[in-house]
Amino acid sequence: MRLELKGITKQFPGVLANDAISIAVDRGEVLGLLGENGAGKSTLMNILSGLYRPDAGEILIDGSSRTFTDPRQAIEAGIGMVHQHFQLVPVFDVVEAVALGAESVSGFLGTFDRKTARQRVVELSERYNLNVNPDAKIEDLPVGVRQRVEILKALYRKSDILVLDEPSAVLTPFETEELFGIIRGLAEAGTTVIFITHKLNEVLEVADRITVLRRGRVAGTVDPKSATREQLANLMVGRDVELKVPKGPAHPGDVVLQLRNLHVRDDRGHMAVQDVNLEIRAGEIVALAGVQGNGQTELVEAIVGLRAVDSGEINLDAHSIKHVSPRHISNEGVAHIPEDRNRDGLIAYMTVAENFILDSYHRPPYSKGIRLDHKAINAAAEQAVKDYDVRTPGIDTYAGSLSGGNQQKVVVAREFSRPLKLVIAAQPTRGLDVGSIEYIHKRIVEQRDQGAAILIVSTELEEVLAVGDRVAVMQGGQLVGIVEGETATYENVGMLMGGVH
Ligand SMILES: Nc1ncnc2c1ncn2[C@@H]1O[C@H](COP(=O)(O)OP(=O)(O)O)[C@@H](O)[C@H]1O
Ligand SMILES: [Mg+2]
Repeated sequence: MRLELKGITKQFPGVLANDAISIAVDRGEVLGLLGENGAGKSTLMNILSGLYRPDAGEILIDGSSRTFTDPRQAIEAGIGMVHQHFQLVPVFDVVEAVALGAESVSGFLGTFDRKTARQRVVELSERYNLNVNPDAKIEDLPVGVRQRVEILKALYRKSDILVLDEPSAVLTPFETEELFGIIRGLAEAGTTVIFITHKLNEVLEVADRITVLRRGRVAGTVDPKSATREQLANLMVGRDVELKVPKGPAHPGDVVLQLRNLHVRDDRGHMAVQDVNLEIRAGEIVALAGVQGNGQTELVEAIVGLRAVDSGEINLDAHSIKHVSPRHISNEGVAHIPEDRNRDGLIAYMTVAENFILDSYHRPPYSKGIRLDHKAINAAAEQAVKDYDVRTPGIDTYAGSLSGGNQQKVVVAREFSRPLKLVIAAQPTRGLDVGSIEYIHKRIVEQRDQGAAILIVSTELEEVLAVGDRVAVMQGGQLVGIVEGETATYENVGMLMGGVH
């Protein structure tokens, strides 16, 4: 079916999330909807799926105007949504999860015809190459398969229009490739597909047409056959962005960080890091790739002193830091850019200036004896705001009111404001706009060129390939491979991430 959204407008308190957005998708077409975090993509799709009512605008299906006052009406009109956060019930098996809600509630509990439902699930799974075991329990399925169950659920409801909201966020590169195959198959069979993402490579690969949203508006629509990554990035942020991290060859020096037979347990007592051996030298960037939840978080926490080591060694400049406190490790010249900046990196109700001196207020030049030198603090904060291009009304603004990208710049500015031996950066650009990513990457390379050893942990393959002088891959708690930066590719690193050695 042909879908048109015309002049869709949605105001939230303080944010015009959708500002007269018009898009169109034809039957059998894959429209890539590209935009930064907060551009308004999910809002637009929530309007299409009947979760939100627009303040203005029109939804047209095959030319006739439709109004949805609840999601059920959108489903009946043939619109299927695979949400950014899955909504499957873990204790159900696939047939139940797919058929639930398609039947009436009483019908489901009373006369649920499992045999017929199962048969349709099997049929759909085969027809679209979804490869889902109908009798498996949802909780036992890997994320990639759960997502295919969501797609099955939409198909089961006879969706002619399928919307996938950031579907690859939780997938391995291999699973993403499989998903793209499924999407192509659906489109060829006549399904209208809207594929939402903030990843440039993905839209270029899977979409027939790309519409870019920026700050609630359509910034442009382009043909992927002729579009470039640079052009898309420009449309996303409204200015030119350097996508390739400008970086000369590494000149590795002495070993700064050495991990030997390292074992670390997670919060539940499971061995999350198993027998990891790794050396990082001064002047090189090691990028640690892996799908979220493969031990990277625990590894980083152990290195910076936030988590106990089970067995093995962590050496900094050839002495053990295994039982050393986070503050002492930091004082040795180790910077930590934490994975969750809102939990560990930044204090929202403190000002930009206060956040800037969080770790160093007790040291000169910020304190004289027991007194803080506010003049010195303010001068340093003003300088950092300037150097790191932090967009803030001033240094007295509460850090919590800044955008994600600007909060992260405050964290990075603080961590990089002193001489460093080692930088541990966990997901340093997660959730940031392309412009801020460019900025932070440049600063990390700068630290490398000043002689720091760098470990970047990232689930984004693009980032890993852009910055890593060497790429290490973690899977199931183990280091399953190390690839030289020059020979690292989407394919060979992606295979390792997916557990193919
Ligand atoms: N339910 C809501 N209430 C208030 N503000 C919202 C709500 N949903 C989204 N927003 C705001 O609307 C803007 C667009 O958000 P969203 O549509 O989720 O963007 P995207 O999916 O492109 O990342 C953001 O500024 C977001 O904070
Ligand atoms: Mg979204």
